[in-house]
Amino acid sequence: MTHPDSRLFSSMTVGVCYYPEHWDEGLWESDLDRMLGAGVSVVRVAEFAWSIFEKTEGAFSFDFFDRFLALCQRKGMKVIFGTPTATPPAWLTRKYPEVLNARRDGVLLRHGGRKHYNYNSPIYLEKTRIIVTKLAMHYGQHPAIIGWQIDNELNCETDEFYSEADSAAFRVFLRNKYGTLDALNASWGTVFWSQTYTDWEEIFVPRPVAHVGINPHLELDYLRFISHSALSYCALQADILRAHIAPRMFITTNGLFAHMDNHKMTRESLDLYTYDSYPDFAFELAREGQLDRLRDRWSSMKLTEVRSICPHFGVMEQQSGPGGWYSRMEMPAPRPGQMLLWALQSAAHGADFVSFFRWRTCTFGTEIYWHGVLDYDNRDNRRLSELRAFTDAMKKLTPLCGASHPASFAVVRDYDNVFDAQIDQYHRRVTQQSEDAIFETAQLTHTPMDFVYLHEGISLQELKKYKALFMPHAVIMTKAYADALDAYVRDGGTLVIGCRSGYKDESGRCVMTPQPGLLSSLTGSDVRDFSFVSPAEETPVASWNGKTMPMPVFCDALDAREGAKVLARYETGIFAGAGALVEQTVGSGRALHLGSAFCAENTRMILDTLGLTAPFADQITVPEDVEIVPREKDGRRWLFVLNYQEKDMEITLHEEMHDVLEEKTLRGSVTLRPYGVKVLEVRSGS
Ligand code: GAL
Repeated sequence: MTHPDSRLFSSMTVGVCYYPEHWDEGLWESDLDRMLGAGVSVVRVAEFAWSIFEKTEGAFSFDFFDRFLALCQRKGMKVIFGTPTATPPAWLTRKYPEVLNARRDGVLLRHGGRKHYNYNSPIYLEKTRIIVTKLAMHYGQHPAIIGWQIDNELNCETDEFYSEADSAAFRVFLRNKYGTLDALNASWGTVFWSQTYTDWEEIFVPRPVAHVGINPHLELDYLRFISHSALSYCALQADILRAHIAPRMFITTNGLFAHMDNHKMTRESLDLYTYDSYPDFAFELAREGQLDRLRDRWSSMKLTEVRSICPHFGVMEQQSGPGGWYSRMEMPAPRPGQMLLWALQSAAHGADFVSFFRWRTCTFGTEIYWHGVLDYDNRDNRRLSELRAFTDAMKKLTPLCGASHPASFAVVRDYDNVFDAQIDQYHRRVTQQSEDAIFETAQLTHTPMDFVYLHEGISLQELKKYKALFMPHAVIMTKAYADALDAYVRDGGTLVIGCRSGYKDESGRCVMTPQPGLLSSLTGSDVRDFSFVSPAEETPVASWNGKTMPMPVFCDALDAREGAKVLARYETGIFAGAGALVEQTVGSGRALHLGSAFCAENTRMILDTLGLTAPFADQITVPEDVEIVPREKDGRRWLFVLNYQEKDMEITLHEEMHDVLEEKTLRGSVTLRPYGVKVLEVRSGS
């Protein structure tokens, strides 16, 4: 396969999601003409169309999509073809109910919605093999097709699996991992509460238990197992496609969902990762009154995660209309300009391909309120105008295709800790607090940030792109990850960790070495005592260089080991007088251990001290509520400047810049219209 970093699109490309099976065939031609007229060059189709291809078991028919693809070919429209496995037909689940997913209490999830299958049923795997092979053999050389989408949004809507097939596959997964029951029992600490297993058949995926949580080490392995199942399912389809389709076609899947290692899946099975961007979720009416400062700008955090998977990604579904289902979710229509803003937000963060969901709102089914570009009445509307404006913009952005994102620093994650934080609420609380605070601070101070995920084969090269790494709460620390971080620091990098670091091993068991465990020699810190901040007390503060620094959520009381120094001490709280921030120089870099979770104030103080904040401040001044996203390529630098407010925003350019979208030179004070976006080429010092 191609490395996901490869640049698949040679120019910025715009698509739409289209469902020929939802419309009278007489509409196809005018739909394609209108799309092409609006600058759309790609349609994604077929990802839910299994019952069109195989109406009854073994009765395959390709006529319908043959006709549609022939029309696409004639019109010059390119196609991304979906495998339809997200929606098994009624005949299949009726005849083989073992393919169904189940709730934790064992109740099967029936036909009538979607994503109701499990990844491990031998029959579903076989049925998948057959339908994907048939499609790949029939369409694998089709001139209109440029790429394939596997399934739809793996792990979306359902990211837990409790069928009998899952329990059987879980046992195989565990046998491969542990070899013997003794090893499994030791790793899961099953001596606690007499949970010891004496036969593999005694082991199940989590089932309802008395009011306490299930064994946490089992649960951690269970999340790894779900990830393994989803990745194997993706690989099964990718291998079939690769064996049959033309080498010029790419393989992708869409989404960014929990309980799976999206990075590994992309490395192992895909040529391109695509994401589905729905920023309107920030305005879901159910959340009225709970809007926070970043609102739809939070989507930039997701896009930042996606960029860590695939620097030049695609957006397979870009929100175009108000979202909603008849049964849940109610959203306002994007304000004038907002649909264009959201699409440019995706392009700013690294999408070279953006495809809108969907061409026209469906007039039937669950998603009658999930609006597309066009409304039910099929007339031209303001969203179509914004789609046109976007395709015009993307033409002008062609020099940025494949441009990189220069970040001042990165936040480090790894899937052991991602999964552990999903099951362990102590872990989750500090991680959510810190990652959100760091991201928000980076956004509001205009300090570009990346995510980077540790993995087995991570190289120093991948880490040393960043002057600083924040790894807020690596609760689980392994020797391999500690070594990678050590090499990074020795090489000149700065590592910043927070409280609750290094106290668990890979199984999620607590270690008996002083915290931060395997990181201690790097950070030079020693955790003598620790506690959540009690609701009965004020947030403790520390003093750092004469300034007051909040120490929120959870506090480690730190000592410095020999060679390290205490930079800040608690002034209030039960640990008053103890170390709050410890620094150690190692090789040509340094490590900092902050004894608490991160918040806006302490993150800002650290970023300022490290000289990372606002790298473009000499070139441009923008208000906090405007986002800046830098891109660089071939010695050129551009700044996307995005206004998320429904009002004018003033920005100041301290030097002459080229306004790429308006094609003119700007300097001095400039007004950003409500939801307006500027892409500015900086002439100096990239
Ligand atoms: C996505 C999904 C689409 C559509 C859309 C709007 O998650 O991939 O098929 O359902 O949401 O609900």
